[in-house]
Amino acid sequence: MTRLAMNYDAVNLAQGFPDFPAPEVIKEAARAAITADHNQYTVTWGTPDLRRAIAAKYDREYGLGVDPNSEITVCCGSTEGMIAALLATANPDDEIVIFEPFYENYGPDTWLCGARRRLVKLRAPDWSFDPDELRAAFNSRTKAIVLTSPHNPTGKVFTRAELEQIAALCREFDTLAITDEIYEHILYDGAEHIPLLTLPGMRERTILVNSMSKTFSVTGWRVGWVVAAPDLSDSIRKVHDFLTVNSPAPMQQACVLALGLDAAFYRDLAAHYLGRRDALFASLTEAGFHPFRPAGAYYIMAGIERFQFDGDQRFAVHMLEKAGVACVPGSSFFEDPRDGSRLVRFCFCKKYETLEEAGRRLLRLR
Ligand SMILES: Cc1ncc(COP(=O)(O)O)c(C=O)c1O
Repeated sequence: MTRLAMNYDAVNLAQGFPDFPAPEVIKEAARAAITADHNQYTVTWGTPDLRRAIAAKYDREYGLGVDPNSEITVCCGSTEGMIAALLATANPDDEIVIFEPFYENYGPDTWLCGARRRLVKLRAPDWSFDPDELRAAFNSRTKAIVLTSPHNPTGKVFTRAELEQIAALCREFDTLAITDEIYEHILYDGAEHIPLLTLPGMRERTILVNSMSKTFSVTGWRVGWVVAAPDLSDSIRKVHDFLTVNSPAPMQQACVLALGLDAAFYRDLAAHYLGRRDALFASLTEAGFHPFRPAGAYYIMAGIERFQFDGDQRFAVHMLEKAGVACVPGSSFFEDPRDGSRLVRFCFCKKYETLEEAGRRLLRLR
């Protein structure tokens, strides 16, 4: 969709990357790191400084004691963290439970391990799941459940009660949980992010994946990390070493500074996106969509029923041609494309000018 958006000179609300500058203080730290010659391979699982900064973050924010020497692996974004975690733990024919709709990468991630996906539906409008359906997805072949919270594409933030249900199943069936927490700090309307790892009995069976990409608006830097118990980290580090060796050295250095920013940075981040969420939500409603208000992350899923169009993909191309706005067709997030055929996803990690221009253009659809 990004390539098509360029062909149509469209406002790109498809791929989730910011069109505004990254924080100056972080960019300056990266420039300084290059000048200071942090330009060679680092320890494959991350510089000691960065692993200490990551451990300090989890201690400060959740009171979690994480050993920087044996429980943290720095990798090239959470994209690599997720595939490294799966390749390190899943064997062919193992089953991986995933909530659907799901972030597109989890499809290829599981295929590359030869594992099978067991999908559990999240249902609009609040994207809740049926506990019986979740239980039925677990069995003796289940290796792990992948949990994304805040969730892409729906913006759902899993509640403590929901996390407790998931944790209970992980304990009962002796399975791992791999949590993608990349939108950890992008929360609205009082929603709270609770790492699954902090729940009883989950510390030793949860692999937490996170990155700098979304929190610090640096999706191109490729710095992420995986937190897991020493035995799991040991396997993940081996896979990571052969996948990418190390995350870019100067960016790791800048990440040390980023992780030390004070609470005001995170408050501003959430406020920054709240205004944008509300602006895009209003534009979508005015243009005739049926948007679902997200509690976290920076996407809005929207129903396209009112346009009486034959399928999400054709609608997305029609919207490019008629309005010059790009979105992601909903079917990209479902195994059976029909399940997403009446949905599209917009992102709002954009300047207000970009969102206002999109809002004006979307009115052409009416
Ligand atoms: C849920 C989720 N996980 C991972 C990623 C990729 O993150 P990274 O840039 O850290 O590889 C994205 C990007 O959109 C995402 O939405």
